[in-house]
Amino acid sequence: MCGIVGYTGFRLAVPVLLDALANLEYRGYDSAGIAVVECGKLKIFKKTGKINNLKELLKNKILSSSCGIGHTRWATHGVPEERNAHPHINDDCSFAIVHNGIIENYDLLKKKLNNQFFRSQTDTEVVAHLLNKQLLNKALTETNILKSLKLVCDDLKGSFAFAIVFNKFKDKIFVAKRSSPLIIGVGKNENFIASDIPAILKWTNKVIDLKDNEFGIISAQKVEIFDCNLKIKKFKIREENIKAEQIILNGFDCFMHKEIEQGAEAIQETANKVFNNTLLEQLVNKKQNINKIHICACGTALHAGLIAKFLIEKYCRKDVIIDFASEFRYKNPIINSNSLCLFISQSGETADTIAGLELAKSKGAFCIAITNVLGSRITQIADFVIPTFAGPEIAVASTKAYVAQISALLGFTKFLFKKEDIEIDYNLQDIYNICDWWKNTNFDEVILKVVKMIKDLDSVFFIGRSVDYYVAQEAALKLKEITYIHCEAFAGGELKHGSLALINDKSVVIVILTQSEILEKTLNAIHEIKSRGAKIVMFSQFLQLKDFADLFVRLPNKNQNLMPLVCAKPLQTLAYLTSKTKGFDPDKPRNLAKSVTVE
Ligand code: F6R
Repeated sequence: MCGIVGYTGFRLAVPVLLDALANLEYRGYDSAGIAVVECGKLKIFKKTGKINNLKELLKNKILSSSCGIGHTRWATHGVPEERNAHPHINDDCSFAIVHNGIIENYDLLKKKLNNQFFRSQTDTEVVAHLLNKQLLNKALTETNILKSLKLVCDDLKGSFAFAIVFNKFKDKIFVAKRSSPLIIGVGKNENFIASDIPAILKWTNKVIDLKDNEFGIISAQKVEIFDCNLKIKKFKIREENIKAEQIILNGFDCFMHKEIEQGAEAIQETANKVFNNTLLEQLVNKKQNINKIHICACGTALHAGLIAKFLIEKYCRKDVIIDFASEFRYKNPIINSNSLCLFISQSGETADTIAGLELAKSKGAFCIAITNVLGSRITQIADFVIPTFAGPEIAVASTKAYVAQISALLGFTKFLFKKEDIEIDYNLQDIYNICDWWKNTNFDEVILKVVKMIKDLDSVFFIGRSVDYYVAQEAALKLKEITYIHCEAFAGGELKHGSLALINDKSVVIVILTQSEILEKTLNAIHEIKSRGAKIVMFSQFLQLKDFADLFVRLPNKNQNLMPLVCAKPLQTLAYLTSKTKGFDPDKPRNLAKSVTVE
């Protein structure tokens, strides 16, 4: 949430910063701003809304600076207005700061700043004034800045990645980090900082991962990293594998569309790696004492976890307890050294999931992270990491990462309790078959008919039983987040216990029906709905049910365990096409951001 960037080198800073910010826009798009060091002065530009507005503002400005910082905001403290946009400055505008994270004790610190005038409602501005206070009456040297910054950071509670530029230093960026991501991109006679790789990939794939409680001074020729005691540190430069073309649209109308199409590769690549992961096999063999499994995640990642719960309980006959990470961290979960905890996170940065992981570790549980971002915070804390291979996911709504997570969990379940001679009736070839089907199937025609039925409704309901209920929950989340239609998923058998009261002759109910065992029971719910005059859209492979539906979306007849993967393609397409039809941008839903690094 929020993205920060910085550049120092031989190029004009403004276009670099704007380009870099545009590639971080998925982290927030409430407002954007930059600060550049121009002839011994700081020039600050801010605009509400997307980066394009800031670009427009800067269109005719001539700025020769080659050093600056930038920010794209997802509002936490303070409404999305210009005054709350970053960068924030101290009283005499001798430095400017951008921040990704959240300062939890900012109110208390603000009170301590007695008569200070505040231009904004943000937590970040408090940091600017605290730093100013520390620097008062001190010579503005690198050492004094670092010492002052450290003293400020020591007083902060919460998460932060800061980048600061001073009018006195024409090519230096000062950085500090705790719990929010920050990378340094290393170039030739130029260096970059960013919250995430896509921002800098155009110029360099050489990256330093700044660690928690480290500080840095970055100039065009040099990168210096300091530990928490401000001792200079050696650092490693790694090469990032992501290619620049992976983060461009390549002819697609939006990233969500591109990423739905990439689902097949994400599933295949992940299954390939996880099903053949000998380390995972050895690990699972060693962990036969496990008596309880917990799964903890947020949003779509949690829905992937629900599918794993279904599979593990079905095949391994072990209880799986699943929690929203935001609940898990506060419910004092009953876990110990015989517990296996799975944390699923595309970004590997989600604050609640990370807090849950830290808690489980402190209770002695063995913690596995499933993530799409190697090097992310989750990978640094977990005992074992199962990577997904979806490639960078740019659209805010998760699509290819979700199916990659399911793919990884299918592999994980296969290894789990293998010694107990449990026959699991799906294999890698079944998954490859689904990938081929995914690549060669287009649902647009039939899905556009569904779009026509639902696009003007206030509410859309989904029902399913067993694993279909989990699929329905994900479908409802995807549709609501990018179309702003109220969507809700119900367990098929639960309708008559209250929710049926919502159904009338204007309603459309989307039924997911892929499991033969619950076929007849789901039909009962369909009858109940139809007798209230509602329309039924059915997603199923059971052709014999066609006549029960007003619109039937035919699914292929694949291994039943893998039907959640199959359902993902038409249901993600439904969300994407409804969003487009309603004139929205599916990639950037209102009020949301991709990496939820705040609680
Ligand atoms: C919805 C969506 C979110 C994320 C959730 C967790 O489409 O993308 O619900 O799944 O915010 O994010 P990660 O997986 O990064 O922890």
